[in-house]
Amino acid sequence: MAVMKGQVLVFALAMAFAGLIGCVVSYDRPPARKDISILQPNDFSPTSPQQVHISVVGPDKMRISWITQSSAPAVVEYGTSPQNYTNSATGTSSSYRYLLYKSGQIYDVVIGPLNQNTVYYYRCSSESTREFSFKTPPAQLPIKFVVVGDLGQTDWTNSTLQHIGQSDYDMLLLPGDLAYADLFQHMWDSFGRLVEPLASQRPWMVTQGNHEVEKIPLIHKTPFTAYNARWRMPYEESGSNSNLYYSFDAAGVHVIMLGSYTDFDPDSDQFKWLQADLGKIDRGKTPWIFALVHAPWYNTNTAHQGESESDLMKKNMEELLYKARVDIVFAGHVHAYERFTRVYNGNADNCAPVYITIGDGGNREGLANKYLDPKPETSVFREASFGHAQLEVVNATHAVWMWHRNDDDVAVSSDTVWFTSLSSDPACKL
Ligand SMILES: *[C@@H]1O[C@H](CO)[C@@H](O)[C@H](O)[C@H]1NC(C)=O
Ligand SMILES: *[C@@H]1O[C@H](CO)[C@@H](O)[C@H](O)[C@H]1NC(C)=O
Ligand SMILES: *[C@@H]1O[C@H](CO)[C@@H](O)[C@H](O)[C@H]1NC(C)=O
Ligand SMILES: [Fe+2]
Repeated sequence: MAVMKGQVLVFALAMAFAGLIGCVVSYDRPPARKDISILQPNDFSPTSPQQVHISVVGPDKMRISWITQSSAPAVVEYGTSPQNYTNSATGTSSSYRYLLYKSGQIYDVVIGPLNQNTVYYYRCSSESTREFSFKTPPAQLPIKFVVVGDLGQTDWTNSTLQHIGQSDYDMLLLPGDLAYADLFQHMWDSFGRLVEPLASQRPWMVTQGNHEVEKIPLIHKTPFTAYNARWRMPYEESGSNSNLYYSFDAAGVHVIMLGSYTDFDPDSDQFKWLQADLGKIDRGKTPWIFALVHAPWYNTNTAHQGESESDLMKKNMEELLYKARVDIVFAGHVHAYERFTRVYNGNADNCAPVYITIGDGGNREGLANKYLDPKPETSVFREASFGHAQLEVVNATHAVWMWHRNDDDVAVSSDTVWFTSLSSDPACKL
């Protein structure tokens, strides 16, 4: 009963503050596929690890995150063959409250040093019935990424995850909007269970979207409570003081995760951090630079035009990324796929980043299928279909991008393009 009342209250608040949490609906979306909700299996004990996911920490460590209903040891045991745990590491656990909801224990254990490109078997909280395994990313190119945003938890999401599961990728990059919990905290738990089969096997590196904010004026003033507790990323390692923006190296790629829903003014911590981070990049070690944001800086869909997270952030930060010769900027937010040419300040520019919107993971809000007409020449490919993309960085000069539409067989790529790195283009030397 208390739970029911709580949900009614939360729902009323959600409606009242829908504008504030960023659900700007200014176009007709086609019907979405049905929502799915993954409950805790009946045979789970209160100390069974669930919602396991992993993320890289520095060049040779991995963070293991999981949740139990009641307290269990914050320990991960691991080794390179099944059931033979030659190493173990201990970490910490925490929980959070959100209105009437209290989370389970959320664990955070960093393991390593680990060998590169190696399969490890592991178990959490010494639970013998649930063994997991993951593969560490390679130390050198090639490396294969999956990029997908705005996942949510619908039948479309399931279809996207099935396709991702069939690709042999090393690391997943997610430009924001994960669970679409929108204040209903049990949906974060459902999302954790939905993605566990994939997110426990490969590092999932994420940044936040508007659906992660979950701030309610006067009632829950702290933003990102669930996101920060459940999806902790390696920010300290890159000199950031916020889980909302950070960077890391993966093989020959420097990946920058920006925060669209935190301060990005020229005197903000994020701006100064970005400046410093770009200044430290060694193009000999990481010939490629990718950046991820949630709200797209270039977008010809009618959805999400004119938002300050897109326009002001672009105004403040575009020059920094351009001058650093960032190769590709990925965004989500718009529930469709769009690929631009290299563009700076609105104009095609051979030394500027390629901009790609990949907010088509499959969430319950449906597709954004109206576009501005006529299509500007800088927009090369645009389509409102759910899907995901694979990006294989082959060597220091070449990478191949393949967008997969869910409706197609996974072997079919609907938009394939080769990119060459800006660091290898003599005309783009600074
Ligand atoms: C467990 O792994 C270690 C180190 O790889 C190896 O020496 C040992 O033989 C293994 N034990 C079993 C029972 O497989
Ligand atoms: C996801 O799709 C697969 C394959 O179609 C199906 O077996 C599975 O039951 C689906 N999962 C959910 C949660 O709907
Ligand atoms: C990089 O990969 C591309 C595409 O496979 C290939 O054509 C090129 O020769 C490679 N460059 C080097 C230096 O191996
Ligand atoms: Fe969004």
